[in-house]
Amino acid sequence: MRFLRWLLVPVLVGGSAAMAADWKNLQVLPKTISKDELRTLMKAQSKALGVECDGCHEVPDMASDKNQNKVIARKMMLMEKEINEKWIKSMIKDADKHPVTCGTCHQGHESPPAFVAPPPKS
Ligand code: HEC
Ligand code: HEC
Repeated sequence: MRFLRWLLVPVLVGGSAAMAADWKNLQVLPKTISKDELRTLMKAQSKALGVECDGCHEVPDMASDKNQNKVIARKMMLMEKEINEKWIKSMIKDADKHPVTCGTCHQGHESPPAFVAPPPKS
């Protein structure tokens, strides 16, 4: 699954048990995504933003869109896909190996931290 490949890089190594699930409200991810794949992806996104599941979800109703961060996260996923597939891939050879992910910008923070240039080497 192309879309999943870069989303899960580098978390998902090798295949995963294809356990189909009855998802209620997937609008961006493929509806055929397995429980294992979805869990891996959700954990990776949580870590990338330094939040728990409730950072985006109205726990325990994971299908609810009440939390605005979940709505934003969907668009962020589409943005990430476009950056990788439309832009980086056409510029850099083997870009698939280190795609842009949530963590590239967020660095473990809910809002990406501002770049601070390191002090000059003496
Ligand atoms: C950065 C935001 C974010 C975080 C953090 C997050 N999720 Fe999600 N989650 C989403 C988005 C966005 C969707 C919907 C994706 C779509 O529409 O394709 C989703 C969908 C789901 C679904 C599918 C619900 C359904 O039936 O439609 C489950 C289950 C889920 N997440 C579990 C979790 C768990 C467990 C955690 C914590 C480990 C977690 N999520 C953390 C954003 C997040
Ligand atoms: C190209 C850089 C970039 C990438 C990649 C990126 N984001 Fe973001 N994200 C931002 C910026 C910038 C903001 C706005 C931060 C602010 O409010 O100051 C933001 C805000 C958010 C917010 C709202 C939280 C808040 O407090 O502002 C969520 C949720 C979010 N991103 C989720 C994601 C997820 C999930 C991914 C990966 C699928 C992702 N982002 C990938 C740059 C990025």
